[in-house]
Amino acid sequence: MSEPRSSIDHLLVGVSGSIAILNLPTYLVALRAAFAREVRVIMTGAAAQLLSPSTVALLCDEVFLDEVPTSQKRPGHVELANWADMFLILPASANILGQAANGLAQNLLTTTILASQTPVIFCPNLNEKMWSKEAVQRNLRTLTEDGHVVVGPKHAPAYEVGTGVVTDTLVLPEPDVLIGRLEKMLRQF
Ligand SMILES: Cc1cc2nc3c(=O)[nH]c(=O)nc-3n(C[C@H](O)[C@H](O)[C@H](O)COP(=O)(O)O)c2cc1C
Repeated sequence: MSEPRSSIDHLLVGVSGSIAILNLPTYLVALRAAFAREVRVIMTGAAAQLLSPSTVALLCDEVFLDEVPTSQKRPGHVELANWADMFLILPASANILGQAANGLAQNLLTTTILASQTPVIFCPNLNEKMWSKEAVQRNLRTLTEDGHVVVGPKHAPAYEVGTGVVTDTLVLPEPDVLIGRLEKMLRQF
C-alpha cells in the first residue's frame, strides 16, 4: 500500500489585499520548507500596494501580477490553474470572497479561481465587524456549497492597523496549523 501524501509538487497561492499580507513571508517560507516543492504566487493590485511583489519574489518561485496582454508567451489563468496541485488563497479579502462566490473574474486571481478544476482553499482575514456581516457569511456558505474549502480565522491578540493597538481580533491560523490542515485535505481530495 502506498504512503499517504503529506506534500505536493505545485502550490499556487493567491494573495489579496488584507492586512494579514504582512505575515505572508512567514507562510511562504513554511509552505516551501514543509509542504510544496514549488510555489507560485498571484497578487492582486491591492495586495501589490500593501507588500512589494519584489519582496514576495524572494520567497517563492514566481510572482504573477495583473498585466495588459502582450505578445510575450507566459502562463495565463488557465495554465496557472492547471499547473496547481493545490490552490490556496491567503489572505483572502472580503472582496475576493465576494467575487469568487459570485463567479466574477475581474483580474488574474479571480479569473484563475474560476478556471480552477480543483477546490480552492480560502483563508479569509477580515475585521470582526466585516466577518459578522450576513453578506460575508452568505459568500462563505456559497463558496463551501460550490465545493471550495474555507479555513476560518481564529481569535488572538494582534496589532490592529486601524486603531494602532494590540487587541483581540481575528487572525489566520498559524503556519504549522494551516499546513496540518492542508496535509489532512490531501488525504481527502
Ligand atoms: C491598510 C489596509 C488594510 C486592509 N485590510 C483588509 C483586511 O484585512 N481584510 C479585507 O477584507 N480588506 C482589507 N482591506 C481592504 C481591501 O484592500 C480592499 O477591499 C481591496 O479592494 C481588496 O482588493 P482585492 O480583493 O482585489 O485584493 C484593507 C485595505 C487597506 C488599505
